[in-house]
Amino acid sequence: MTVTVTLAKGAGDVLLAVSSYFARIKRLFGCFEGFLTIIASSSAFLHVAMSQFLLAVGFLSIYVPSVLTAFTPRLSSGIENIILTSQEFDLINDTLRTFTQKVDHFDPNNKDTFLQRFGVNVSFYKPGGPAFILVGCEGTASTIWTHLPRSYWVDLAKEAGAMVFTLEHRFYGYSWPKPDLSPESLKFHTSRQALADLNAFILAQKVAFDLNNPKWITFGGSYGGSLSAWAREKYPDTIYAAVASSAPIEAVVDFSAFLEVVSDIFYNFDKICAQSIHRGFLAMQKELQTEEGQDKLNQIFDYHNRLKSQQEQYNFFNLIIDTLLEFIQYGDGGSGYATKLTKICQLQTADENNPVQGYANVYAFLRPHKPLLRSAVIKPDNGRTWIWQTCNEFGFFVTTNSKRVNKNFVPDVLPVNYSVDNCGNIFGDVFNNATVYSNVDSTNEYYHGRNKYNGTRVLFVNGKNDPWHALSILEPREGINAIVIEGAGHAADMLRSQESDIPAITAARKQIHAIVMKWVNE
Ligand SMILES: *[C@@H]1O[C@H](CO)[C@@H](O)[C@H](O)[C@H]1NC(C)=O
Ligand SMILES: *[C@@H]1O[C@H](CO)[C@@H](O)[C@H](O)[C@H]1NC(C)=O
Ligand SMILES: *[C@@H]1O[C@H](CO)[C@@H](O)[C@H](O)[C@H]1NC(C)=O
Ligand SMILES: *[C@@H]1O[C@H](CO)[C@@H](O)[C@H](O)[C@H]1NC(C)=O
Ligand SMILES: *[C@@H]1O[C@H](CO)[C@@H](O)[C@H](O)[C@H]1NC(C)=O
Repeated sequence: MTVTVTLAKGAGDVLLAVSSYFARIKRLFGCFEGFLTIIASSSAFLHVAMSQFLLAVGFLSIYVPSVLTAFTPRLSSGIENIILTSQEFDLINDTLRTFTQKVDHFDPNNKDTFLQRFGVNVSFYKPGGPAFILVGCEGTASTIWTHLPRSYWVDLAKEAGAMVFTLEHRFYGYSWPKPDLSPESLKFHTSRQALADLNAFILAQKVAFDLNNPKWITFGGSYGGSLSAWAREKYPDTIYAAVASSAPIEAVVDFSAFLEVVSDIFYNFDKICAQSIHRGFLAMQKELQTEEGQDKLNQIFDYHNRLKSQQEQYNFFNLIIDTLLEFIQYGDGGSGYATKLTKICQLQTADENNPVQGYANVYAFLRPHKPLLRSAVIKPDNGRTWIWQTCNEFGFFVTTNSKRVNKNFVPDVLPVNYSVDNCGNIFGDVFNNATVYSNVDSTNEYYHGRNKYNGTRVLFVNGKNDPWHALSILEPREGINAIVIEGAGHAADMLRSQESDIPAITAARKQIHAIVMKWVNE
């Protein structure tokens, strides 16, 4: 999701837009940080208004007076059967329990603890059965897995007679090891600590529920899928097997492959449309060179911000590209996707001579913040902690730095240092170009990257239409199962079966079922 907060329109709108963003997040499950793009106007007054508003709701930290964006490999959105009503959310929120967790697993002298939330459902459990745990990711814990029968895994759990758990990831939702989000506190915000949390949690639940050594199987999607796979790699004595859906396993600063996948999707779907997008971006680059052209773009994109400096132009491109990528990532394998793609290409190519207007129409069609929810419920999920993880561990910055993409799809309008510079803008001196690159190297060293990943009894599931597959494991090898679902988007396999599913997803669920049940029964 991209939320654009255009400050020029007045503080009232800002308030509404920001609160709508968080209200929407609340309704969606799991890892759903989305992209938060805040486009600031040059008005000092509005900067102050925005800061005060964000301060009031505890979000000052995420406000930077330029643009802030973070691409997260989060889970599917907009799929009706996983959206919670507010009553369901409140009910679920109230049923989560807490576990006393260590703040620092790697320093024996640090005795600090915090309360980490978790969900459990014992109603499917049959004595001797396994334990399934959904690994929490970059969002509020969702007990859609443990309390509401809305995920595919709930069906598996029933069949396996499994006890079902989920554990909220530290620094998301309501599991806060530290009361603030300063870099000093965020140094405890790492996937390594999160995996150690998971290990400690599992060891304790064995005792708490008097489980006689069940097989623990981890599940997760997106970043949660990465954690699921890494948990099995790092804690093989605790965890028996792992399913990792749409899980990036290779950290990368410059994630230029993302747009390569998107370009391929468009070229396979409708070449004329892909070429029109290309011509549109080239024309936009040209327009940006003159003041007149800048005004024109502002108008047709309903953007209304300065477009003079390079940074301002990056901001613009970032926004209009993200909007398209967001849609592609969630190509959910349902029939709605193809229909929408058709619509997008119709809009893009409606006037052969005006591909810029075509793209502006696509953008207006996809821009998700138009029908704002009017609720103003705010909760402390935010982009800042995920952005910290990208700067501190993973990178994953989407760029246009691919010759192939530049040649026939999107020219080079978003360099990698746009995102890298943001790390420093947001967190200060802890991050600069050199530290961001070395952090990402260190992550790949610790988890071995995708070529040397050496967990076993692991299943990787990816969607062919999900650009994140470019960082995952797609080929089976010793101890590793891999399924690639033709035509599916991000983590589509995790959702419950529904009538609109394409046959490839139904077939993939059958395979997943067979593999998990084999682990359970062997
Ligand atoms: C959800 O639970 C947390 C922690 O238990 C609590 O602080 C918060 O107020 C609850 N939120 C809602 C919207 O009920
Ligand atoms: C466990 O799951 C079942 C089936 O989805 C649900 O009816 C029940 O309310 C859940 N139990 C708890 C404690 O949430
Ligand atoms: C990124 O690098 C380019 C070329 O070295 C430079 O012109 C630009 O100012 C840098 N920063 C940003 C945010 O683009
Ligand atoms: C950032 O660091 C990388 C890796 O060391 C290097 O290749 C790149 O040129 C650096 N970029 C800038 C703008 O200094
Ligand atoms: C994976 O590799 C690491 C480091 O090389 C090693 O310590 C570990 O034992 C390996 N795990 C397995 C399951 O082979």
